[in-house]
Amino acid sequence: MNGIQASLVRSVGVLLIAASVAFSVAPAPLSAQDADGPYPAMVTLIPNPRTDLTFARDVAPIIQANCETCHRDGSVAPMPLQTFEDVRAFAPLIREKVSKRQMPPWPIDRTVGVTEFKNDPSLSVDEIRTIVDWIDSGMALGERTDLPQPIAWPDGKTWEFESELGTPDMVLRSPIYNVVADGMDKWPTPITPLEDVQIDGEPLTRDRWIRAVAVRPHSFEARRVFHHANPGLIMPGEMPDPMEPESGRIKLIDSAVGTEGRIFPDNQGRLIRPGSSVSWGLHYHPYGHDIEAALEVAVWFYPDGFEPEFYSMGDVQMQTSMTTYSGNFSPRSGARDPSGRFHDHSDILIPPHSVATVKGVHVLDRPAMMHSIRGHMHLRGKYEVLEAIYPDGRWEVVNKLNWDHGWHTLFLYEDHAAPLFPKGTVLLMTSVFDNTTENPHNPDPDQWVTGGDRSIDEMGHIRLGLTYFDSEEQFQQMVQERERALEERASDLAGDQ
Ligand code: HEC
Repeated sequence: MNGIQASLVRSVGVLLIAASVAFSVAPAPLSAQDADGPYPAMVTLIPNPRTDLTFARDVAPIIQANCETCHRDGSVAPMPLQTFEDVRAFAPLIREKVSKRQMPPWPIDRTVGVTEFKNDPSLSVDEIRTIVDWIDSGMALGERTDLPQPIAWPDGKTWEFESELGTPDMVLRSPIYNVVADGMDKWPTPITPLEDVQIDGEPLTRDRWIRAVAVRPHSFEARRVFHHANPGLIMPGEMPDPMEPESGRIKLIDSAVGTEGRIFPDNQGRLIRPGSSVSWGLHYHPYGHDIEAALEVAVWFYPDGFEPEFYSMGDVQMQTSMTTYSGNFSPRSGARDPSGRFHDHSDILIPPHSVATVKGVHVLDRPAMMHSIRGHMHLRGKYEVLEAIYPDGRWEVVNKLNWDHGWHTLFLYEDHAAPLFPKGTVLLMTSVFDNTTENPHNPDPDQWVTGGDRSIDEMGHIRLGLTYFDSEEQFQQMVQERERALEERASDLAGDQ
């Protein structure tokens, strides 16, 4: 980060509380050397590394806690990092990936906007320096007795959130789909009626409120061909538009590599009714041999009879291109504004060897809390920016998502940092595409690129996890609670120093 940026961040301060909106901007502790890459904040390494570090005592606990979840046999990463030998063999690559903050993956610009997230896996600067210094000083093993206890990883059949919420109340599975070895990308959208699903041995007979949802491919093999899914809920009596099967429904959850589920904030949830169906909205791509694939979705409910105060829309998809979609659902029924259309990328046109942008605008017609953000672009994607202009005229960057096609990360805000937007807030969305040779993912910079579903076409949308407030009073109450929470945090932080 340069001096001007640094002082700006400092003058904004840790906690920004203003008239009718409150979210926190934490100062970015790192230097931003390569502002354009997917992971811009590199760690500035100081010379004179510590030389007394050992793998067993200092490094293994960091790797175990932050890498093993993906870097172990049977998980998503290409190689395990579970032993001294594993880590030593990959030391040069590990040094590069952690110091550039490319691992663990967290493709967001840390120098602007909201920086506090529930699911941020990033290493601290100290942890990065420990790994790098240990590598630079010759990689001592140390005493094996210092090694942390190995983690007993589940066999891959437990759910995200299971340790917090227990076994899911309902598990749905999409019909098996055969993804043939040499086929094309496929977008099957089968529909599963909830009548076929049992909850505690009973069919769903009453309205229930969803507290959390998690998704996983049904097998390790299926993970290989799974690109993403947008499972949606079709309420009783509602039919999707046959021309556009992803329309006419609200999202149950969406999922892709990097997004495995969500828990709604306290007292917020999604309604599910008897007689509803799930439409799966899958995207598979071939992987060298024939693979039978299905997706599983686990749902945890609020207790029977409990109705949370706020109905959450879950993810609302906002286009950066030609925003005709208004996002105005009626809160309780979940009905969609008929003027809204989900898919419209018709104004994306990217000339060869160029950097291009598309923009979208959305004005909130009700106050809202935003609990998550997730970008979506394809191979020419560079970054997406969400800005907010408040009714009082103040303007702010909410987040800049640095697109990395390998990671469709869902960024879940900490409760005290989730932006609160007053009615009338203008949300500005910009997608920036790079169709030059500078973009390492670019399959062919000589091509014109238009909007479309294939990875070689482009898309530009941002999904906001939104909960709308039915009344201004509810919203003001939320803002006051937030201000109190932030003041408490500020005094706790001051007390710690
Ligand atoms: C969320 C899962 C996940 C986590 C957590 C994670 N990795 Fe990775 N890692 C991957 C995947 C998937 C790849 C291969 C694709 C890529 O490079 O993005 C990868 C690639 C790598 C590579 C490059 C391998 C190669 O051959 O190019 C290194 C090195 C690496 N990870 C180290 C680490 C370290 C060290 C940590 C912990 C500090 C870590 N990773 C945490 C999933 C993860």
